[in-house]
Amino acid sequence: MLCGLLLGSAMTTTIAETRADAASIEDRVKALLGKMTLAEKIGQMNQVHAGDMEPISQLGDALRAGRIGSIINQVDVDAVNELQRIAVEESRLGIPLLVGRDVIHGFKTVMPIPLGQAATWNPDVVRQGARIAALEAAKSGINWTFAPMIDITRDPRWGRIAESPGEDPYLASRLAVAMVEGFQGDDLAATGTIAACAKHFAGYGEAESGRDYATTNIPENELRNVHLRPFHAAVNADVATLMASFSDLNGVPATGNDFLMRKVLRDEWDFDGFVVSDWNSIHQLAVHGLTADDRDSALAAATAGVDMDMAGTVYDRYLAKLVEQGALDTAVIDNAVANILRAKFRMGLFEKPYTNPDALPAFGSPEALATAKTAALQSVVMLKNEGNVLPLSKEALDRIAVIGPLADAPYEQLGTWIFDGDEGLSVTALQGIRDLVGGDVEIEYVRAMETSRSKSTAPFDEAVEAARKTDVTLLFLGEESILSGEAHSRADINLPGAQAELVKRVRGAGKPVIAVIMAGRPLTLTNIIEDVDAILYAWHPGSMGGPAIADLLFGLESPSGKLPVTFPRMVGQIPVYYNQKNTGKPPTPEKIVHIDDIDAKAPQTSLGMTAFHLDAGYTPLFPFGFGLSYAVFSYDNIRTSSAEVPVGGTLTISAELTNGSDVVADEVAQLYVRDLVGNVTRPVKELKGFRRLRIEAGETVTVSFELHTDDLAFFGRDNKLIVEPGEFHAWIGGNSDADLKTAFRVVAGD
Ligand code: BGC
Repeated sequence: MLCGLLLGSAMTTTIAETRADAASIEDRVKALLGKMTLAEKIGQMNQVHAGDMEPISQLGDALRAGRIGSIINQVDVDAVNELQRIAVEESRLGIPLLVGRDVIHGFKTVMPIPLGQAATWNPDVVRQGARIAALEAAKSGINWTFAPMIDITRDPRWGRIAESPGEDPYLASRLAVAMVEGFQGDDLAATGTIAACAKHFAGYGEAESGRDYATTNIPENELRNVHLRPFHAAVNADVATLMASFSDLNGVPATGNDFLMRKVLRDEWDFDGFVVSDWNSIHQLAVHGLTADDRDSALAAATAGVDMDMAGTVYDRYLAKLVEQGALDTAVIDNAVANILRAKFRMGLFEKPYTNPDALPAFGSPEALATAKTAALQSVVMLKNEGNVLPLSKEALDRIAVIGPLADAPYEQLGTWIFDGDEGLSVTALQGIRDLVGGDVEIEYVRAMETSRSKSTAPFDEAVEAARKTDVTLLFLGEESILSGEAHSRADINLPGAQAELVKRVRGAGKPVIAVIMAGRPLTLTNIIEDVDAILYAWHPGSMGGPAIADLLFGLESPSGKLPVTFPRMVGQIPVYYNQKNTGKPPTPEKIVHIDDIDAKAPQTSLGMTAFHLDAGYTPLFPFGFGLSYAVFSYDNIRTSSAEVPVGGTLTISAELTNGSDVVADEVAQLYVRDLVGNVTRPVKELKGFRRLRIEAGETVTVSFELHTDDLAFFGRDNKLIVEPGEFHAWIGGNSDADLKTAFRVVAGD
């Protein structure tokens, strides 16, 4: 059925409406703005890199003159307090500074990389991780983090997938909200909370061929149905700021894109925080070719709605001239400055500009390390466990070989974006295993490769010798941290260096081989998967990765992570993601032919004529949502609370989940829905709910998901949000391939 029903603005609650103190803040913003000169206003829109204004006296002069609204990358608390003092006590209007830093997945204590945190499917642990990061960062005087990064991506070649929540807009939205809540707490003005920044607005994760900073072309419908959703969720969760993306979006780089920053963000979403550019990205508008020079770039970015220039000099140099020449309306400046001041008032900076580090917990506190361990435990995804080779039993083992470049690499396990991460807090897997087995099991450690990229196979003989003498070999493979992150994209996402060769050689020793893979992205594992008995995919697990991995290997806990992103068989399948469209010729197992099976004598024979690759088929190596457990879970008896639900109504979808093993374990139950007919084609499945549950051995629980018809809304042909009556399918299961299915109808409401 094609009749769409428009959803009204009731879907969004504006920040202003929910704040009791909003009116008084607005009065203060207005009063302060009224006192400011043009130069002081432009100063608020200017963020400087602490290191660019050495010596400090130069920075001090600029602060006294009111020419700086924010600094980035100063983490010495005494220096921060001194800069705040100059701004507050020696500038004419005494406006405090925003002190920004990339606190992405921890500060001194490092949580798993964000993609690993997404694999926990646990908003509570993600919120807690962000809270710990905020407490530690605030101790250094930081009051603003450039996180959460909530770019949806379907491309594991992209180095920044490590920082992202993966491929799904629903999971990303839930985790975006959790991170904003963790950083900002209930009260942005409270000690130990910091302002968050949802980035990169928007579409950055679609960079062509996964090459960082490359062009993105995303039709508006796709942009709204997929990429903008987590940002809207963050805005509804009161995120204080957003960052414009570096990338070119449909021909208009995000930093100059008024559709994004005016129409969507301000007019539709009522955002009243502020937007910061990315690092010098206003200047880059001319490099993109959108503008001729820095003057035009300043005009384009300010007009489009970028309120603050990050680490650039373009606003500082050109905004005043643009106003004086009549090219830029002062209202644009006033609006931007009001947005920035509003944030500073909400953060309580005028009342409490200084940091007292002693009022905050010590770095690496027991609570911080415990959170890091829980997050790591829940982030590890077991991809294979042939013959239940895992968990290991220390009673049954005399000797273990621990081999590989990432077994004892305290820095590498922290992953990308850890400017302040304390390597000294890291407990490696080798240490974790030693601590767990004590003196009961002999451990032989052979690093075998200097780095994950090493090509030399000379040390492999020693590794093979160790593997021969052992009961079981633990191979620690993957990528060093430098192989993912910003500007660290890869075109080949196999295990780097000679790792595949190491796997084959160790396999030849004839003993069980367990691979623990630490990486910043999904790697293509097709070339090693048959040569290992088990795989624990640990991402970059952070400070406490070692003890978490040890607990999982020895069954103190069961693996419970689930993939937040699809794992391709080979790079040529990319983009491959679960919530794809059906196409007019969907493949089935019967309708595909492998390249090796084409009949040479009858090459004209039909090859199925469906949407698949001759050499890769159409399925990924591991689907979104996948992850094995030591328990055996089964789902049964899916049903809906009624066969029909009116638009505006709620439906409950339930199933029984049984742990048929003698192991207590967590399972992440997932709800998927398919809208069979839409006025734009709809994905074959969409995640609509999930729940992490601890299930006792032998226990059966009922898993229920409440679905409001608003949860089924999508942007239709005219890019308006609609809920369409019609038929839907629903699945509940342990991954996106779940086949336990039911159906329901949405019918027109009253
Ligand atoms: C990145 C941002 C980051 C900024 C500040 C840029 O290169 O794209 O994500 O917040 O630098 O470090």
